[in-house]
Amino acid sequence: MQNNQLIIETTIIYVKKELANAEGGHDWWHIERVWNNAKLISQTESVNSLVVELAALLHDIADAKFHDGDEEIGPRKAALFLKTLSLDQSIIDHVVKIIRNISFKGGNFTTLFHSTELAVVQDADRLDAIGAIGIARAFNYGGFKNRELYNPQITPNLQMSKEEYKKSAAPTINHFYEKLLLLKDRMNTVTGKQLAQKRHLFMEQFLEQFYTEWEGRG
Ligand code: ADP
Ligand code: NI
Repeated sequence: MQNNQLIIETTIIYVKKELANAEGGHDWWHIERVWNNAKLISQTESVNSLVVELAALLHDIADAKFHDGDEEIGPRKAALFLKTLSLDQSIIDHVVKIIRNISFKGGNFTTLFHSTELAVVQDADRLDAIGAIGIARAFNYGGFKNRELYNPQITPNLQMSKEEYKKSAAPTINHFYEKLLLLKDRMNTVTGKQLAQKRHLFMEQFLEQFYTEWEGRG
């Protein structure tokens, strides 16, 4: 226990240092929120909590988006760091597999990995994309990309390919229909589903109020 505490503290210092210049959506605060979500969800799951916490802390250590789409850079970097700690190889392997699979984009991997620890961290990360925080992150991203808040003439397109989606300059409100409102049905754990439901309702209320104000109805 003492030792695990030290491992977590050492990891936090490393992650904070690595993400010192990260953009707002994937900075230390995102990691801290995901870590807290993961600990909350873990209370109702039977998991190795060291694996869950390490994976939550290291899951965005390097984003492929900023490294020419290299999906292996994050897992590789995490593995190198974990090897500097006194950990069982089985723990390292599990954490690295979670990082590799958490944001599985349908890319290079033929074998998908499943574990309860992965399910927990994936839910924790998805929760941070919805609810009040999710709304804030979406408009932050839209602002960064100079997107319109909303445009009644541009309707959401659920059929777009990943490439088309990346290139489209769709208003931020569309992102709710194309991704954020779909996440509650993709949750893995019981607690994750409950928390997602609450955040989902909040987003629906937000959208209702948004249109009311947009259309001058109140
Ligand atoms: P992840 O790292 O979880 O895969 P992304 O890097 O795709 O997530 O997105 C980071 C944050 O930016 C999320 O909160 C996401 O909802 C938001 N975001 C991503 N794409 C868009 C978009 N087209 N419009 C608005 N927000 C977006
Ligand atoms: Ni993340």
